[in-house]
Amino acid sequence: MKKLIATICATSALCLLASCNDSPAKQMPYNQGINIIPAPANLIQKEGSYKLNKKTQMYASTPEAKTVAEFFAAKMNTATGYNVTVSDKETSDGISLVIDETLDVNDEGYTLDVTENNVNIKAKTPQGLFYGMQSFMQLLPAEIESPSVVNGMAWTAPAVTIKDEPRFGYRGMMLDACRHFIPVENVKKQLDVMALFKLNRMHWHLTDDQGWRIEIKKYPKLTEIGAKRIDGEGTEYEGFYTQEEIKDIVKYAADRFITIVPEIELPGHELAAISAYPELSCKGEAITPRIIWGVEDVVMCAGKEETFQFLENVLSEVVPLFPGEYFHIGGDECPKISWKNCPLCQKRIREEGLKGDAKHTAEEKLQSYFVQRMEKVLAKHGKKIIGWDEILQGGLAPTAAVMSWRGEAGGIAAASMDHEVIMTPGSNGMYIDQYQGDYKIEPVAIGGYDPLSKVYDYNPTPDTLVAQNKDKFIKGVQCNVWSEYLYNTDLMEYRIYPRILALSEIAWTPVAKKDYKDFERRTENAYVRLDGHDINYHIPQPEQPNGSCNFVAFTDKASLEFKTTRPVKMVYTIDGSEPTPESTVYEMPIEFTESGVLKIRSVLPSGKMSPTRVITVEQQELAPAKEVAKTTPGLKMDVTYGYFLESSQLADAKDWRSSTIKSLREITSVEKTDESMRGVKQYGAIATGYINIPEDGVYYISSNNEEVWIDGKLLVNNGGEVKRFSRHDTSIALAKGLHEFKVVFLGHIIGGWPSNWNDGGVKLRKADATEFSPVTPEMLVY
Ligand code: ACM
Ligand code: ZN
Repeated sequence: MKKLIATICATSALCLLASCNDSPAKQMPYNQGINIIPAPANLIQKEGSYKLNKKTQMYASTPEAKTVAEFFAAKMNTATGYNVTVSDKETSDGISLVIDETLDVNDEGYTLDVTENNVNIKAKTPQGLFYGMQSFMQLLPAEIESPSVVNGMAWTAPAVTIKDEPRFGYRGMMLDACRHFIPVENVKKQLDVMALFKLNRMHWHLTDDQGWRIEIKKYPKLTEIGAKRIDGEGTEYEGFYTQEEIKDIVKYAADRFITIVPEIELPGHELAAISAYPELSCKGEAITPRIIWGVEDVVMCAGKEETFQFLENVLSEVVPLFPGEYFHIGGDECPKISWKNCPLCQKRIREEGLKGDAKHTAEEKLQSYFVQRMEKVLAKHGKKIIGWDEILQGGLAPTAAVMSWRGEAGGIAAASMDHEVIMTPGSNGMYIDQYQGDYKIEPVAIGGYDPLSKVYDYNPTPDTLVAQNKDKFIKGVQCNVWSEYLYNTDLMEYRIYPRILALSEIAWTPVAKKDYKDFERRTENAYVRLDGHDINYHIPQPEQPNGSCNFVAFTDKASLEFKTTRPVKMVYTIDGSEPTPESTVYEMPIEFTESGVLKIRSVLPSGKMSPTRVITVEQQELAPAKEVAKTTPGLKMDVTYGYFLESSQLADAKDWRSSTIKSLREITSVEKTDESMRGVKQYGAIATGYINIPEDGVYYISSNNEEVWIDGKLLVNNGGEVKRFSRHDTSIALAKGLHEFKVVFLGHIIGGWPSNWNDGGVKLRKADATEFSPVTPEMLVY
């Protein structure tokens, strides 16, 4: 796992700046212009600017306004070293925060007037004042977010008049603490940054198959057993929040005007709870929390009254911790197979008259029955339920709000029936656990491709709803940060940022005011603010067309071309030294006529750099083909049973069984696999023979197997890695004809992904081709 967990980090722009006091921030390109994210609904820039000074006074018109003023005075003093103070006395040359209930904006809106002489913020509520101050902070140099004093700065804000309010009341981010736990301090850090960008809901996914993460006093085994799992690598993984920690986080969020929406999943995604209390499932069998990703078919029994009693007891402890109006009950991905086979579930179906019809099966109606019972329980606690769009199956509970994740269809259906909807469709860029760059060089992710522009392009009000005047039921929009592949919080931040900034703008700014090019420019300023919070945001890396590769073989000449997913400068060296912001700027393909090493990385206007890509460029002769007298189609395969995490462990393995195979698919299917992988017998396999290369040339090779060897050379080595989205491609010059070929497969679970789920394939791409194609059975002999 060591390669996988390698943290992506780069020099901090703030450190660079702090050490060069002679370059005032106003000269920094990223501090020029207006940089507010989300863009305000109305902004007029005027002549001149306001300058903070050592003794700037803040005036607050009410005690609540004073709390807001003190929050920001402390922040400004931290970065400036000034002594900005807050008082009840009006100020003519300071910053005024005034509650004005007659203001013509909504409850989260504000007006902000910055003149050369003073700053005036008005709002109907303290929340509006908070957002007005966040906008003012974003008019100041980005270094205002620094956690320590930054010297040599001119702390000025351009004069503006702003009248602003959000487009949606729900502007959310979902954090998944189940697949990978998020420590309290990191949750707070995300809340700090969400507040900067005026996000106001943090949906907290607290229970799932892989871990139960919230203390429940009546059911201690939920955390003693359900919060732990032994991962495929053999290591124990654990973590949960105590109720005191939850209260602390809820308060921390509320201080930043963020409401936390808790999610307790039901009736599926409950294996961690079932592991602690097996009687909750239909069969009641002993089981352990899930150690792989995907959908679990052991779910809560809907026939047993004990299940409902358990949930009622759990909710009676959870609900009081969270003051918000919505309570999320999950409801997604609940396979119905165990209910189909369970006498108690079937009895419930009969007794409740839940008949299948053309639209819904009886089991889907049972899911609806389940959700409606929970709706009533939560209503007694004064909560509205919200669930993933599967809660439409079998009939939507009367008061339920729907979170539309499988596209927009669920949201459209619910809004058409006058139910509240939060849009979070994965297909429209709202699943920000997906890739935002070339998967061959990015840390492994769940798949997909959601660049910043795709998130930004999303409009949460579908035309069909606008046409019916039902778009008013779209209460907001959310990005989801599922954490299967977010093995640590650095990786989590790498996925969240900067994409959550695009979410902030689509949730707040009127559609007519959206402007991607200008947003992209403003992110350059925002990155420096994120540096102030030590956020590990994504910086686009130099990528090669047709798939990035760190080993480029060539015969006569190599021409290395690069692009980036967002506009950013690339710099490189060919003398082995580490590229710095001053290194040669990439402008056109880099030519090699002899072997060498290219080091290339991106650099932001702040001076912060992406990780360096180190690309070995090697001149090769075509490896000659082998003369083989007699060949048979297929490969030889040797299999040995056991659980191997590394190929070196095969050396000690005994009891090898030999066979022949026709296709590479067979090396991952010696044993039948399933969705749970429980009880699947594991093995290692080595397939050997020859590969018939169709024509002379340089070939790129890609595979999710453990190893791929050609002519005795280890070409692809995925040792220790998650075996998905091969990130260790290589290239080699090969003559037409037969070459020795060896493929090693180890059946195991690393990083939650069973290698058995792969197709065993090896793919080739000729250097001048744009696509990889699979090695076919016709190319294999022994
Ligand atoms: C989901 O992504 N299963 C809601
Ligand atoms: Zn059952």
